[in-house]
Amino acid sequence: MALPKINPTTTQSWSKLQEHFTAMETVTMQTLFATQTDRKERMSLATDLVSLDFSKNRITSHTLDLLIQLAKETKLDTAIAAQFNGAVINETENRQVLHTALRDFDAMKPEVVNTLDQIKRFSQAVIDGSHKGYTGKAITDIVNIGIGGSDLGPAMVTEALSYYKNHLNVHYISNVDGDHVCEILQKLEPQTTLFIIVSKTFTTQETLTNATTVREWFLQQAGEKAIAQHFVAVSTNLSAVASFGILPQNTFTMWDWVGGRFSLWSAVGLSTCCAIGYSNFELLLKGAYKMDCHFKSSEFSQNIPVILGLLSIWYTNFFKTETQAVLPYTQYLSKFVDYLQQASMESNGKSVDRNGSKIAYQTGPVVWGNTGTNAQHAFIQLLHQGTLLIPTDFILCKASLHGKENHQDILVANCLAQTQALLMGTHGEDIANPYKEFQGNKPSNLILIDQLSPESLGSLLAMYEHKIFVEGAILNIYSFDQFGVELGKKMANKQLRS
Ligand code: F6P
Repeated sequence: MALPKINPTTTQSWSKLQEHFTAMETVTMQTLFATQTDRKERMSLATDLVSLDFSKNRITSHTLDLLIQLAKETKLDTAIAAQFNGAVINETENRQVLHTALRDFDAMKPEVVNTLDQIKRFSQAVIDGSHKGYTGKAITDIVNIGIGGSDLGPAMVTEALSYYKNHLNVHYISNVDGDHVCEILQKLEPQTTLFIIVSKTFTTQETLTNATTVREWFLQQAGEKAIAQHFVAVSTNLSAVASFGILPQNTFTMWDWVGGRFSLWSAVGLSTCCAIGYSNFELLLKGAYKMDCHFKSSEFSQNIPVILGLLSIWYTNFFKTETQAVLPYTQYLSKFVDYLQQASMESNGKSVDRNGSKIAYQTGPVVWGNTGTNAQHAFIQLLHQGTLLIPTDFILCKASLHGKENHQDILVANCLAQTQALLMGTHGEDIANPYKEFQGNKPSNLILIDQLSPESLGSLLAMYEHKIFVEGAILNIYSFDQFGVELGKKMANKQLRS
């Protein structure tokens, strides 16, 4: 079963959406809210871990009907089934796309069970100190060496779940900037540091350069034999790992059916697992699995990732918005946007469709943002009064983790106030000064979780993964390759050789 190859612009629903857009362009949300008192109730969805209020969007129930018709006409249901059933939907690389299989404990492949078991045993030994360094001391510091999906996901989750973290200090080296490598190494003792080299391909220039530098630094103080206690690797390329000098028992396998940007659920998450412990890591996977089940089995009209994906297409292709902002109102998610940028933009930044034809509509939007309330004092001015329309996702945790109710009250109030201000502007007020006028009518989603936990984070991440999938599936592109990153790599190598 392959992915359908339907040009979305040839569907009836696309033409109807085009017509409908002409009517909707001038309709304001202020009017919609004034006339539809139950709008929030009708335009809210929830699982037991994540809820979405999408009422503050420039849509009516007719818009939703047409968008859902678009999903049906482009056979999104077939695409979802193809993904979960392990069809080779990454056709350009001839691969399955099965990161969801890493979190389905009811039907787990034996190789996934084995690797999870290896992750569990290893992380426990590092945490309880039974895994010793070459001088007999326990490990105190872990350094993840990887880039892109081999860095952004684990680094983001480790930061996001730092409330659940143990005594281990976890560092991330991604950039090939030697100054950064030296700054990190300066803080470390070789005898108590564990290096995890993470590279799906084990050919990535930055990672191999950094890993080589780090090994040289280590060998200045320790003997070759000590490498065994201090270097482990995560990769699909087992022979390259062995050539680097890492023992098979220190190698964690991943598979070509896990895309780099969707790999935090695999052994790529080893640094995270060491930081938060295996039981929390398992909860992260289980939270994601709950969202997988919701995505797989909910009607499109009740399906959170489907609705988010459709709204994204609505704005990008009809309102011609070019960017989407994401503002998490928790500092724990300070690395979330960096992670999401790769997940979304490397996936859907494409311009050739699944029939091999050049695309004449818009594909992936630019994703950007930062945490609230910081964003309010930086760029939110442009969202309120700029000339660009920027649909925005607000992510909010109802409760904090450390208490401090007064802070949480302020955080919540600010987040909700922003969504309301973007919606209403100064509508209905008598504003004499045009510089102080806010038009409002700016769309936003409110994504709510009760409290940031491994489970709720897992669900939130899976929600965005599936949203990205929905966009790519309907827009008739291949979301799981990334040939666009190759040309620059080749040119850099040429430059190096010249
Ligand atoms: O160059 C882009 C990319 O291939 C990403 O897709 C990937 O996450 C990253 O590089 C790192 O790749 P690897 O894990 O193979 O080192």
